Amino acid sequence: MKRLRSFTALIVSSLCVISSCVKAQDSAEKIQPVSSDKILIVYLSRTKNTKVIAGMIKGNVGGRMVELELQTPYPEDYKAIVDQVAAENASGFLPPLKTQIEDISQYEVIFVGFPTWGMQLPPPMKSFLKQYDLSGKTVVPFNTNAGYGTGSSFQAVKNLAPKSKVPEGFTTRGGIERDGILFVMEGEREVQAQAEVRKWLQKIGASK
Ligand SMILES: Cc1cc2nc3c(=O)[nH]c(=O)nc-3n(C[C@H](O)[C@H](O)[C@H](O)COP(=O)(O)O)c2cc1C
Repeated sequence: MKRLRSFTALIVSSLCVISSCVKAQDSAEKIQPVSSDKILIVYLSRTKNTKVIAGMIKGNVGGRMVELELQTPYPEDYKAIVDQVAAENASGFLPPLKTQIEDISQYEVIFVGFPTWGMQLPPPMKSFLKQYDLSGKTVVPFNTNAGYGTGSSFQAVKNLAPKSKVPEGFTTRGGIERDGILFVMEGEREVQAQAEVRKWLQKIGASK
């Protein structure tokens, strides 16, 4: 009986430790409130759906918006860009960026937005995350895609920013360029996405 009681006590105390760990992790994944001049919103957007989401984030929490541009832009043709991105992903090529961010150290929270490309993080965003030291900062991913989800992209953000806090990312349906559907973030779809963004920002503690 005595043994059973001490065994039960052990289980109960272990559960307490586990649950406090879970709680600690929950709060670790929330963004600590920062002033808007410490927020940077970096995004990659070919057909401008992700750009609209970036604007919604800025509308809610403030910050500076910066579009990622390449030294050598991708081809306009859809098939050509798909092939090029597949080759870059296969070889690990990181396309050099035209966009340069001066004094990134002033930012504490960096939202990184991108479409899903080939079910991965697009190479230019890999270049960005490789180029800058984001240690100790909070890096928050957001995404649009054609309906197939984020693939490995959110995990890639975590891997490329190993010393950053990475809260839950945001994803929503954007265009389907393959089927000729390019920009969709207007009218009802925009209103719907706006509500989704607001709910997510509240959940991660980035807005009231
Ligand atoms: C090169 C390329 C590859 C893509 N690969 C995927 C994919 O693997 N899965 C998916 O759901 N959508 C894919 N898409 C569609 C985009 O993710 C989608 O249209 C997104 O909303 C585009 O965002 P943007 O308007 O900000 O450029 C791809 C688009 C391009 C151009």
